[in-house]
Amino acid sequence: MSLWNKHAIFEKNSIVLVAGIVGAVSIGGLVEIVPLFYLKNTIEEVEGMRPYSPLELAGRTIYVREGCYNCHSQMVRPLRDEVERYGHYSLAAESMYDRPFQWGSKRTGPDLARVGGKYSDAWHVAHLIDPRSVVPGSIMPGYPFLFDTPLDFANVERELRVQAMLGVPYTDAMIENARTDLIVQASTDDPALDALLERYPKAQARNFSGRHDGVITEGDALVAYLQMLGTLVDFSTYDNAANVR
Ligand code: HEC
Repeated sequence: MSLWNKHAIFEKNSIVLVAGIVGAVSIGGLVEIVPLFYLKNTIEEVEGMRPYSPLELAGRTIYVREGCYNCHSQMVRPLRDEVERYGHYSLAAESMYDRPFQWGSKRTGPDLARVGGKYSDAWHVAHLIDPRSVVPGSIMPGYPFLFDTPLDFANVERELRVQAMLGVPYTDAMIENARTDLIVQASTDDPALDALLERYPKAQARNFSGRHDGVITEGDALVAYLQMLGTLVDFSTYDNAANVR
């Protein structure tokens, strides 16, 4: 019997066929995946990554709750056209503290991985309330209620604690001060700002929605989150030239 005839056992017995498929696929998977756990450069070492501040994390929760990821990805691919449109391609390290990650595969709207700093707060507020007021042809839905809904941050310490359980390096001090840090970041000129910046370098603190009655809304948190996306890594210390195709 030649080697080719032995194939008949897979064709005549479905259980053997399934076992064969599982075996072949696992070998392929292991060969591709296992080295990633040992290679040092799977997650590049970069300067500047830090866990989300409590306000940014709250904004991120709203982003996920509202399903923004259904239309927006957060991953700039290392392709020339994307890099020219959005900026430096996304690094694995930039999603390091994303639980769950927001890479996405659907781009009804543009990628948002580097939207931070691209527009003013006022633009984001106007755009989220009524996208057509700033982008006439936009098909994005409006989210005006976000700016009328006070942010519920009663559980912010617990949210940080859950993230810490999942491996995000929130320290005890970060968890203890989560409430204060959130309030400080959503206002201006607070004397406790230095402590916030020490815990969360580059955190932008201000009145994001422009409301003057002191209420922190869900919109404030969402804009704070959008304005920090893609701004943490210092790309002057990272050499990319070889990787763009
Ligand atoms: C139905 C699909 C859809 C959903 C859902 C959606 N967007 Fe959009 N978004 C778009 C489209 C299309 C554009 C491009 C036109 C425009 O700027 O309005 C866009 C543009 C944007 C921009 C400007 C990006 C840039 O670089 O110009 C931001 C910021 C944004 N969306 C944020 C959000 C947020 C936050 C949410 C969730 C609260 C959201 N979007 C939900 C479709 C969507």
